[in-house]
Amino acid sequence: MSGIGEVSPVRVLIPEDEITRRLGELAEDISRDYEGKDLVLVCVLKGSMVFFADLARKITTPLSFDYICVNSYGDATESAGKIELRTDLSEPVSGRHVLIVEDIVDTGRTLEYLFTLLAGRGAASLKVVALLDKPSRRKHEVEINYRGFEIPDEFIVGYGLDYRQLYRNLPYIGALELASPLD
Ligand code: IMP
Ligand code: MG
Repeated sequence: MSGIGEVSPVRVLIPEDEITRRLGELAEDISRDYEGKDLVLVCVLKGSMVFFADLARKITTPLSFDYICVNSYGDATESAGKIELRTDLSEPVSGRHVLIVEDIVDTGRTLEYLFTLLAGRGAASLKVVALLDKPSRRKHEVEINYRGFEIPDEFIVGYGLDYRQLYRNLPYIGALELASPLD
């Protein structure tokens, strides 16, 4: 882990008020689409935690929370190419409407893995809300049902997203200005 003295500057891409505004729109769509349905929101740890907490509080229909922890990147900025399931859901999803809450869809590998994992569990429906979409780097075709923002190919930190476990607490979405090439 880098020492705190090595922290790189961050350029603001999406300020806090713009995130709040967009989350309001997403929550309105989700509240409408899931009215009267047994909805379980699945937080993909750790990156989606901040987005999940803010989005969930704007959704007006009854829902329950569950968590899944997968690891795709390790501590670097490039995908290790392998997904590891660290912690599975705590409840069965059979017959329930599952909405996966993702921070960012990059190559699509993580989402494809989650879809394959959860598809066999008999959910009434399986959909995805992603705060950020980086379509330029897509390698696996995945469907995003609700999308916050489309972003260019930059390394993003803040609002839950990390670089080597740092920056998650920034209240805005920013691009990391690394002095040296990504490692
Ligand atoms: P994918 O499997 O390549 O789509 O990557 C998905 C996961 O990689 C996300 O859930 C993030 O945890 C992480 N990730 C991808 N791009 C970024 C980024 O720009 N900043 C921080 N984390 C990222
Ligand atoms: Mg993630």
